[in-house]
Amino acid sequence: MTKLIGVVGAGTMGRGIAHTLLRANYAVSLVDSLPEALGGAQQAISSGLAHDVEKGRLNAETRQQAFARLQISAETDAVSQASFIIEAVTERFEAKAEVFRKLELYCPSTTIFATNTSSISITRLAAITGRPGRFLGLHFFNPVPVMKLVEVVAGVETLPETFEAAADLARSVGKTPIRVNDFPGFVSNRLLMPMINEAAFAVMEGVAEANAVDDVMKLGMNHPMGPLELADFIGLDVCLDIMRVLYDGFHDAKYRPCPLLEKMVYAGRLGRKSGRGFFNYS
Ligand code: CAA
Repeated sequence: MTKLIGVVGAGTMGRGIAHTLLRANYAVSLVDSLPEALGGAQQAISSGLAHDVEKGRLNAETRQQAFARLQISAETDAVSQASFIIEAVTERFEAKAEVFRKLELYCPSTTIFATNTSSISITRLAAITGRPGRFLGLHFFNPVPVMKLVEVVAGVETLPETFEAAADLARSVGKTPIRVNDFPGFVSNRLLMPMINEAAFAVMEGVAEANAVDDVMKLGMNHPMGPLELADFIGLDVCLDIMRVLYDGFHDAKYRPCPLLEKMVYAGRLGRKSGRGFFNYS
């Protein structure tokens, strides 16, 4: 029988996760309170599946079947039949907490709850539900259909069987799960964000222009994108938020956010999504 997975949040990450699940034969119930987010997600998933046909990963028939397994709804209770639910709403504790409080009301106690948070404490989110043993982090990377990694983040109370179910799910969609424990930034953002932050310091201090900083990392370290292009891709506001989580979480000055990064966010230069960040996209 086709397994149904719930995805809450139809932004960039939620739609990427839904697309990845659909092409791996899962049925997906995708919910978002914003109708325009759902419409955008449906379109993006449809063209993503069409791209899979071009690349030979699906044929016309399996593409159609995959798209038919997608249900969308503006109501959170639409995911109540799913045995595994992945939350991918905005990266704010209260927004995520509200989703999990609702899910707690609609879902049986056996349902596993996963959050795609990139930095919020899994243990803290788990504690607002009545199922901290069946709660964990499942951290995907953008663009989700392409990136191989899923960080599987165990909170203090996460049960071994919950971890195994999540790792199996990640493997079944072609990803490589890597276990990490719940500390600020996990592994990915604890390493990535200080590099991005330091690249911003290098620009601020006049060590080199933004494109030169990026070229050093692309040509010298074989990074597919330089740290500043990557920061624009992720969103400078997201990078700043994560630096603040690291700084607040460790109380260590080595994680202080770069003032240039702060200034750019205050100016609305958020990267690709706003048309301008370290580079211009207009
Ligand atoms: N959405 C979906 N697919 C995309 C995409 C997007 N935005 N951008 C590129 N792709 C796909 C392309 O369609 C192509 O797929 P196929 O091989 O199936 O055709 C594939 O990616 C490669 O694309 P290109 O050949 O056009 O370009 P590229 O070789 O330069 O690769 C890239 C593009 C994969 C984005 C590459 O530049 C890269 O890996 N960049 C780094 C990305 C990264 O580090 N992501 C993690 C960010 S951190 C995060 O997400 C988590 C967090 O907590 C902040």
